[in-house]
Amino acid sequence: MRKEVLYERIIEQLKELFKKTTDPVARMATISALLYHKIDYYFWCGFYLLKNDELIVGPYQGPLACLKLAHHKGVCWAGVREKKPIIVPDVHQFPDHIACDERSQSEIVVPVFNPDGSVCGVIDVDSDKLASFDQTDAEYLERMVKMIFH
Ligand code: SME
Repeated sequence: MRKEVLYERIIEQLKELFKKTTDPVARMATISALLYHKIDYYFWCGFYLLKNDELIVGPYQGPLACLKLAHHKGVCWAGVREKKPIIVPDVHQFPDHIACDERSQSEIVVPVFNPDGSVCGVIDVDSDKLASFDQTDAEYLERMVKMIFH
């Protein structure tokens, strides 16, 4: 199945599920669970949330991950800084990539914005294959994280 079709279905499912609650943590948990179980190239999927200028792990699915990310290093911090999606086809080529799990090969990070427009954290997805993510993944992840606060 084309990834667009899969993502469209997941978005429809999220719209239904989000009628149950506006709670952002419940919504983040639901996004990570659905994506992780429905998309076969997702090896890890979850949120890192800004708290007192630290990135702390939030709801996620997949292997055990770092609880806190070293300050201003790696792909997640790059997403916070640049306020746009970061697609990394080969994590070994990303200068200060933080490896929470050695099996991760490629990664995508998309910022999550508060209703006031400030960044509250990121959604991060890892794959155990190279070059799993492209612009399509970025666009759908952006659409999904927008649904957290709306
Ligand atoms: N690789 C990320 C750290 C989080 S793990 O991938 C779950 C980074 O470089 O920020």
